[in-house]
Amino acid sequence: MATENLNLVPFVSVENMMDLVLETGIDHSLAELAQYIEEDFLRWENFDKTPRVASHSAEGVIELMPTSDGRLYGFKYVNGHPKNTRSGRQTVTAFGVLAEVESGYPLLLSEMTILTALRTAATSAVAARYLARPDSTTMALIGNGAQSEFQARAFKALLGIDTLRLYDLDPSATERCRRNLSGLGLDIMACGSPEEAVEGADIITTATADKQCATILTDNMVGPGVHINAVGGDCPGKTELHRDILLRSDIFVEYPPQTRIEGEIQQLAVDHPVTELWRVMSGELEGRRSEAQITLFDSVGFATEDFSALRYVRDKLAGSRHFIELDLLADPDEPRDLYGMLLRRQVVLDHQHTA
Ligand SMILES: NC(=O)c1ccc[n+]([C@@H]2O[C@H](COP(=O)([O-])OP(=O)(O)OC[C@H]3O[C@@H](n4cnc5c(N)ncnc54)[C@H](O)[C@@H]3O)[C@@H](O)[C@H]2O)c1
Repeated sequence: MATENLNLVPFVSVENMMDLVLETGIDHSLAELAQYIEEDFLRWENFDKTPRVASHSAEGVIELMPTSDGRLYGFKYVNGHPKNTRSGRQTVTAFGVLAEVESGYPLLLSEMTILTALRTAATSAVAARYLARPDSTTMALIGNGAQSEFQARAFKALLGIDTLRLYDLDPSATERCRRNLSGLGLDIMACGSPEEAVEGADIITTATADKQCATILTDNMVGPGVHINAVGGDCPGKTELHRDILLRSDIFVEYPPQTRIEGEIQQLAVDHPVTELWRVMSGELEGRRSEAQITLFDSVGFATEDFSALRYVRDKLAGSRHFIELDLLADPDEPRDLYGMLLRRQVVLDHQHTA
C-alpha cells in the first residue's frame, strides 16, 4: 500500500471490506481480528480512554468512539437506531479513521458496519474463551439480526461451538439466520420462545435491539455454569437482562466508566463490583473459577476494539488491492499557501471553461 501523495488517503469501501474478508476467509478474519483485539487489551494502560460521546434522540443514538495509543489515533462514528430496519435501513452503521499521532494525518478511512459486526463477534468470543466453561458446545442466540451470524461464526471458529439454538421475536429473522448459517456443520434449532432457546445452552448470547429496557432473560432462565454474552444492552435505558441475573453473576466489562452508563450494570449501584476484562486477560484476576459460576460479559463495545479493527485492516492492506485512494487532504506545494492552491484551481477551471 504505497500512498506517494500526501493528499491521498486509503479508503476501504463496503465492497472492498467484503472482498478483503472473503479473500482472507471469514473464520480466519475473525481469528486474526481476535488476536489484534486481545493484543490491545493486553496493553490496556497504553491507551487514552474515555466513555464514548453519545448524542441521544427519541429514535436512537449517534456515537463517537475515540482512542489513541500515543502512536496511532482512531475513532469510529456509529449509530444505533432499532426502528431503522422497518424502513429498510440497518440498526447499526459505522465508519472510522486511523491516524498518525505524530503528524495528525489520517492513514486510513474505512467502512465499519461490517467491521463492527466482525469486531463485536471477535471480542465476544475472546471474552468467552476466558469466561465460558471450556467444554461449552451449545449456544443460545437470542436476537437474530445483523450481528447474529457473525456471533455464531466467531463462537464456532474460536470456541468450537457446534450447536445453536436461535430465537427472535420475528420468525423470519430466525429463518434468515438459520439459512445463512447452513452448510457450516452447525446443528441449528429454531426455537419458539427464549425459554426454549436457552434449554441446555452453555452460552447465552443476547443481541436484540430495542430502544427501551427489555427483559430478554429472566432469572429462572439462567442455570449454574452458564456464560452470558450480553451484546444488545448498550445505551442508557436499553438493557436485556433482568436485574436478578446480574446479582447472581460475576460481571466482566470492557471499560467500567462507559459500561456503568450503557451496560446491563446501569441497573445496579454505581459501586457494584465488576471485573475489567483486560485484567483477566493479563492473568492479574481470575475469569471463570468454577463449573457452577455464572459469568456475564456485559458487552457495550469499546473504542480500543475499533482501534484494533482499524489497525488490523491497515495491516491487511499492505500488498492488497482492496482499497481506493481518496483525495481527502489539501496538499499545497508550499504548506502555507492553501489560499494560493485555491486560486490556482480557479485558473484550471477558467481554462477548462474556455477550452
Ligand atoms: N456490544 C457491542 O459492541 C455491540 C455492537 C454492535 C451492536 N450492538 C447491539 O446489538 C444489538 C443487535 O444489533 P443488530 O445490528 O443485530 O440489530 P438488528 O436490528 O439487525 O437485529 C435485532 C434483532 O433483535 C430482534 N428483537 C428485538 N426485540 C427482541 C426480543 N424482545 N426478543 C427477541 N428478539 C428481539 C429483532 O426482531 C431483530 O431481528 C443492538 O441493540 C445493537 O445496538 C452491540
